[in-house]
Amino acid sequence: MGTLWHGRFEGGPAEELMAFTVSLPFDIRLAADDLTGSRAHVRGLARAGILSEGERDDVLAALDTVERELGDGTFVFQPSDEDVHTSVERRVTELAGPAGAKLHTGRSRNDQVATDLRLFTKRELAVVIGRIIQFQDVLHERAVAAGDAYLPGYTHMQRAQPVLLAHHLLAHGWALSRDIDRLHDTRRRLDVSPLGAGALAGSSLPLDPAATAADLGFAGVFDNSLDAVSDRDFVAEALFDLALLGVHLSRLAEEIILWSTDEFGFLGLADAYSTGSSMLPQKKNPDIAELTRGKTGRLIGNLTGLLATLKALPLAYNRDLQEDKEPLFDSLDTILLALGAMSGLLASSTFHLDAMALAADAPTSAATDLAEWLVAGGTPFRDSHAIVGSLVRRSLDEGISLRDLVEASPELGPDALFLLDKGVAVGRRTTRGGAGPKPVAGQLVAFSAQLAASKSRLEAFS
Ligand code: ARG
Repeated sequence: MGTLWHGRFEGGPAEELMAFTVSLPFDIRLAADDLTGSRAHVRGLARAGILSEGERDDVLAALDTVERELGDGTFVFQPSDEDVHTSVERRVTELAGPAGAKLHTGRSRNDQVATDLRLFTKRELAVVIGRIIQFQDVLHERAVAAGDAYLPGYTHMQRAQPVLLAHHLLAHGWALSRDIDRLHDTRRRLDVSPLGAGALAGSSLPLDPAATAADLGFAGVFDNSLDAVSDRDFVAEALFDLALLGVHLSRLAEEIILWSTDEFGFLGLADAYSTGSSMLPQKKNPDIAELTRGKTGRLIGNLTGLLATLKALPLAYNRDLQEDKEPLFDSLDTILLALGAMSGLLASSTFHLDAMALAADAPTSAATDLAEWLVAGGTPFRDSHAIVGSLVRRSLDEGISLRDLVEASPELGPDALFLLDKGVAVGRRTTRGGAGPKPVAGQLVAFSAQLAASKSRLEAFS
């Protein structure tokens, strides 16, 4: 048979053309979705009276054989198999004869590939959501177990105010909840079937794209055939969602890297989740966290690469669009590996709570509390800020402990000393969403409710 277009062409394609244009090595990943799409199309052709019931069953049986051959590795690919769609159609025609040759009636690879990729993306994004939830479970468990442990909170990487460790961990958890929400949104928008758009303009045959869409489990059907075959918004959106998810993971990764340094000493990494050095015997390196940070670069690259491909692309299908698959596959693979590795890393690390508390109990961490204590006594905040600020400066310049200066201060005095006691400052963060034990207890309840809701939402469609 040769190429799909052999009728129009004299002789076969050049070797260089095939080498440059084939997509089979990567789009073979769409095989299951290609079979799903083809089955629905065959049923549609039978409903339209284009295939007899017998022909329909022969083609469906051939598609079953293709599925089995692909599954057990007996499928024989031909050099002329340009992409997965070509391979499947060729084999179906070999198996089902003239009925098989009717499979592509009223269909183009343009609507076919868009359909396959939507089916694929819809399913795979749900897998990512599931993995994010598993990661959130780890964050949640560790936050619960952290109890009232606290560490310095930072701004500008300078110690600012103490925060509960649970609060810090949940901050990452909430960001991941927004990632889940975004992935759901992307799934909802991509849930539209392009099948029936043909090459670009629909068909003269009595096909019913809406019925095929329903058969495929899509929530809707295309309104415009040109848009249906050209639209790759869903890939760009998915790549954005995954890039931002990577950015979120990379921020946590960066903290794991910092916390596990001797300088911080907040975190110990499990042997199984860290690497050694080939030369330096003492080293234990946070490679998982570093690669999470590093691979986020390629997640961003995959997004910007596809946007550049789509930019200024005229309607309708252009072969450029074949460039949508590799970045999508790569981002999915990368993020799933990163989520798995980061989950294991976080679940197995040890928090050094004493080191965290020691750093957070530095007297200067209570500076804001001293100022707010003055405010409670009626001093305007700007004045209290200046009073405490000058005590801190004197403490640093003159080497006098802040405690002594507070005690001797006419505005503060001995009554304010308790604010410098260990663990007092964090307990005073009492407002909603704040970093102290009271609001964090409420936050843990809200977070676990949201986690449970995420799980049932996912179960509802998978
Ligand atoms: N392999 C192609 C892709 O991934 C399939 C569509 C080819 N269509 C065409 N008109 N050449 O986009």
